[in-house]
Amino acid sequence: MLCKLIGVPLQDGAPRLGCEMGPSALRTAGLADTLISLGHRVADLGNFTITDVPDARHANPAIRQLPEIVAWIKLLQETAYNASADGFPIFMGGDHALSAGTVAGLSRRSVELGRPLYVLWLDAHTDFHTLDTTESGNLHGTPVAYFTGRDGFQNTFPPLTVPVPTSRVCMIGIRSVDPEEQAAIRKTEATVHDMRMIDEHGVATLLRAFLDRVKADNGMLHVSLDVDFLDPSIAPAVGTSVPGGATFREAHLIMEMLHDSGLATSLDLVELNPFLDERGRTATLLVDLTASLMGRKVMDRPTRSF
Ligand code: ARG
Ligand code: MN
Ligand code: MN
Ligand code: MN
Repeated sequence: MLCKLIGVPLQDGAPRLGCEMGPSALRTAGLADTLISLGHRVADLGNFTITDVPDARHANPAIRQLPEIVAWIKLLQETAYNASADGFPIFMGGDHALSAGTVAGLSRRSVELGRPLYVLWLDAHTDFHTLDTTESGNLHGTPVAYFTGRDGFQNTFPPLTVPVPTSRVCMIGIRSVDPEEQAAIRKTEATVHDMRMIDEHGVATLLRAFLDRVKADNGMLHVSLDVDFLDPSIAPAVGTSVPGGATFREAHLIMEMLHDSGLATSLDLVELNPFLDERGRTATLLVDLTASLMGRKVMDRPTRSF
């Protein structure tokens, strides 16, 4: 497999500085060499950056860094569309606002290929705010609402070629949802597995049901991994940590099952804030999780085990 590493030093969507260093930390933790050791080819396309920032405004005074985010979404839509022509794009964030661009670009590609795009959202948060409902004004809280075509982005965020229907979104790890998000997402067909669902059923059961649907539909599958999906005790390098997250083994099991399924076609690694890390342990964990997704396993086993 040709893995394309795409650096996205974006931090304008998050409340504090530091995510800009995410791509460097992932490179330093050995992402490329790890993928090569698993038999993949790697093309590091370098760090992308916005050049001109448009004049964008919105009536909600809380919103932060709107023009910058609009520029990033535009750039990343194009970048994700192009990169997904062949190979396996890995978007090294950068805060989660980047997924507004990556998913929008992948969605355009999926239409061209005639394969529906599914999204696995691994996160403590639903990121389902619109520009009108966000109270924090941090636009990393909005990408899912945008790429599923929720009202409230028209004439502000770049137009979507085609929205991802909420029925094709599966969230796992959710444990922090603002009231407006809760009310809105309840009305959609999105699958939202909160931590309670993991406790009761285990990640394997929840994920298998989703993967069966993706497979039956010959779908493309984008995986968006927010560091705060993980428990803060194993992944301290994130500005929006929430107690009670996924364990080391739950996270690896998800990645191993994704690998066995052969269904994943692209990946976001987001919200890594190296300034908050402890001797690179969170960056290293993200590299190891990517390795599981891309085929690292402890023992050989029959491939249909998922
Ligand atoms: N819901 C909160 C907000 O809108 C938190 C969002 C956190 N998002 C993230 N990608 N870490 O501010
Ligand atoms: Mn997120
Ligand atoms: Mn989050
Ligand atoms: Mn909020």
